[in-house]
Amino acid sequence: MTRSTQSGRGAFLVAGNWKMNGSSESLRTFHSAINGLQADGIDLALCVPAPLIAQATELFSDTPIAVGGQNCHSEKSGAFTGETSADLLAGCGARVVILGHSERRTLFGETDAIVREKTRAAIAAGLTVILCVGETSAERDEGGHLNVVLSQLDAALPDEADTKNTIVAYEPVWAIGSGKSASTDQIAEMHGAISQWSGDQGRQFQILYGGSVKPETAAEIGTIEAVDGFLVGGASLDPAAFSSIATAVIYG
Ligand code: PGA
Repeated sequence: MTRSTQSGRGAFLVAGNWKMNGSSESLRTFHSAINGLQADGIDLALCVPAPLIAQATELFSDTPIAVGGQNCHSEKSGAFTGETSADLLAGCGARVVILGHSERRTLFGETDAIVREKTRAAIAAGLTVILCVGETSAERDEGGHLNVVLSQLDAALPDEADTKNTIVAYEPVWAIGSGKSASTDQIAEMHGAISQWSGDQGRQFQILYGGSVKPETAAEIGTIEAVDGFLVGGASLDPAAFSSIATAVIYG
């Protein structure tokens, strides 16, 4: 059975974000646990800590899961101790990279301008970018959430971003790791606004929702118009939960 996105923007994508969690051993456990996962018609990705990318690429080569990173530097190489370039990620087998995650923005001071340069570098390295945007609860309380997110997109997306190399992920900051997703109305409103913004630009980006997606909520959120996939944090560490989210999307 095929589960294409309602918007017609490619296959529904379920992407995991392990953040700074996991190990060589948990990768192997995850791999054996998801063995045989039927993901017909949807795309799957797992964004792991950079030191695990090469191992994950090798392990998951017999699965439909694309491996990704969670950050990259904007320069190709140089005196940037501790940093990882997009080319290095790609060289280790990554096909995807998450950029502009709210944890990078708040904890590591990444501005839209920095995210834009990183996005450029990742596209040039042949990676698919999952570009994250989202408002804080204070911004939502003030009623500015749509403006905040559309301004982030305006400022962080370079001209070379197109529907083949870039996916947008709407992640309300207050829903990340909180155990409580945004409501279906809130998601529908924001995804509708991003969809319209994309259409106005002539670049109909695929739009993921992220923020406490769980097996119990995946089927419902997945049917909201203009939700073209999920970015899953906590639940992606558990292979059973990750598989259940994927199957909930396919079978409802
Ligand atoms: P969460 O994280 O699913 O644990 O809320 C989502 C994310 O940070 O990408």
